[in-house]
Amino acid sequence: MTQESITRNFLDTPSFWRDYPERDIEFVRWYPCDVKPLSAEQIYATREKFPKTTSFYVHIPFCNQVCTSCPYNKFSTRNTLVQRYIQALKNEIDLYSQLPHVRDTVFTSGYFGGGTPTTLRAEELDDLLGFMKQRLNFSPDCSITIESTPIDVDQQKLDVLLKHGVNRMSLGVQTFHDPLLRYLGRARAHTGESATKTIELIDRSGLENLCIDYMIGIPGQTADLWAQDIRTLMDLPVTSFSVYNYAVMPGSEVFFALQSGATPPCPSTREADEMYQYLHTTLMDAGYLALTYNDFIEPMKPEWEAAGVKTYPVLKDGSKPYRGLETDTFYLTDHLSQIWGRCGDMVAIGSGAYGYLNNHMYLNEPDIESYISRCNEGRLPVVMGAYTDEHEQRCRSLVLGLKLLRVKRSVYRERHGVDPYEYFKDKVDDLVAKGLLEVDDEAIQVTYPKGWYYIDNISKSFYSDANYRLPQPTSASTEILKWQIDRTDGRKGLPIVQL
Ligand SMILES: C[S@@+](CC[C@H](N)C(=O)[O-])C[C@H]1O[C@@H](n2cnc3c(N)ncnc32)[C@H](O)[C@@H]1O
Ligand code: SF4
Repeated sequence: MTQESITRNFLDTPSFWRDYPERDIEFVRWYPCDVKPLSAEQIYATREKFPKTTSFYVHIPFCNQVCTSCPYNKFSTRNTLVQRYIQALKNEIDLYSQLPHVRDTVFTSGYFGGGTPTTLRAEELDDLLGFMKQRLNFSPDCSITIESTPIDVDQQKLDVLLKHGVNRMSLGVQTFHDPLLRYLGRARAHTGESATKTIELIDRSGLENLCIDYMIGIPGQTADLWAQDIRTLMDLPVTSFSVYNYAVMPGSEVFFALQSGATPPCPSTREADEMYQYLHTTLMDAGYLALTYNDFIEPMKPEWEAAGVKTYPVLKDGSKPYRGLETDTFYLTDHLSQIWGRCGDMVAIGSGAYGYLNNHMYLNEPDIESYISRCNEGRLPVVMGAYTDEHEQRCRSLVLGLKLLRVKRSVYRERHGVDPYEYFKDKVDDLVAKGLLEVDDEAIQVTYPKGWYYIDNISKSFYSDANYRLPQPTSASTEILKWQIDRTDGRKGLPIVQL
């Protein structure tokens, strides 16, 4: 095992800021990052202009099989906790439904993430979705996604999901190679064959958009195995596709197995980069449309075109016919567009969930028992967050908007009253000089392939001074911040916010 291959993920994982020409690999997901204690009352202390449409994120922190080296906020399925948690979710939804802002808005998209939301039984999913639809206004074509693994879906659950308008499933396949699944600690959960059977079952059910997740950087993964996985993907009835960079959590079983040599090494950084290049060229040569640098959707269909779905050239010089999808022209990608493109409101529901309401980014209580208690006491479980003033909103629209590879200047002007190029001229000019962005009258666009490679460096270039060099907030950092505040209560004058 070479030093390069074993150190790649261990060293890369904790790093959160690298300056160009070093590649920043911390995935930018939230903005702003300078979160502080925040209460639901503070979010609504001023009534700013409330948008007419919004989205939701519901966190279901349970899995039937907990994988070694999983970085997410989740627990093994335990029945009493699951039922208490669902009741707390319903209490939280009820509280939101009484707020004027949420009561009067229409939900155009939503996402059930985890953990694995489909670990809930069919009756539990039916109960939760039915409750939400009763309390909140869903648009008729509301696009709803649910995350799953190949072992947590069956016909009964699919029937319930379809009945409630769920039209997208994000299925964690990771790879179709059984030895690699074993190295990931997922082999007890599923095999390549069982994943294929589940995909066929979902396809037969008529679900509109099946997205599968793969990971790059898995122990034992080689260029050949990756190429086979891409071919398999293209042969299966899969509408869209996302790829994650595998991160090895220090102290996890996978970490020790790698150190002892019990599993083969992870691909080196160079090998992982080549896998990305292979993925991009293979999919776009076949006509797949880019949503982000790591999300793609099937080639344009006549019915999409007829419905007004628009694309743009990835390469302005036309040297290749690669196209990207304008996510705001397609209801199936409304959630992506709402979160990243429009930077719109998102009601966060569940322990450890993140949301954005009334110009505040906020995080819910990550400790599950505290979360349950708060909801049962009739208090919204908001604990941390940050207000975004007009300058921060302008930054945010580029920090998140450019993750979709393109920001339309007219849309930005309409939202912020200024042109993004004029407002950030020095920063944009610098990124153009580095070959990472291109600007024309219509849009600011990330260059392919160079800008795609540096996507998170580009995104972070638009962090405000207050957020410069701050890491992305996580549930763990929320816990640490809460702990620090609890310990310094009254002594250092840090506020304890009672919600
Ligand atoms: C929250 S999971 C949801 C799906 C489901 N829980 C699963 O694992 O199949 C979303 C995705 O995160 C990715 N993921 C899981 N462990 C990871 C890790 N250690 N590093 C990076 N991505 C990871 C997988 O691609 C997974 O499908
Ligand atoms: S199924 Fe997904 S969320 Fe659950 S433990 Fe495995 S990787 Fe984590």
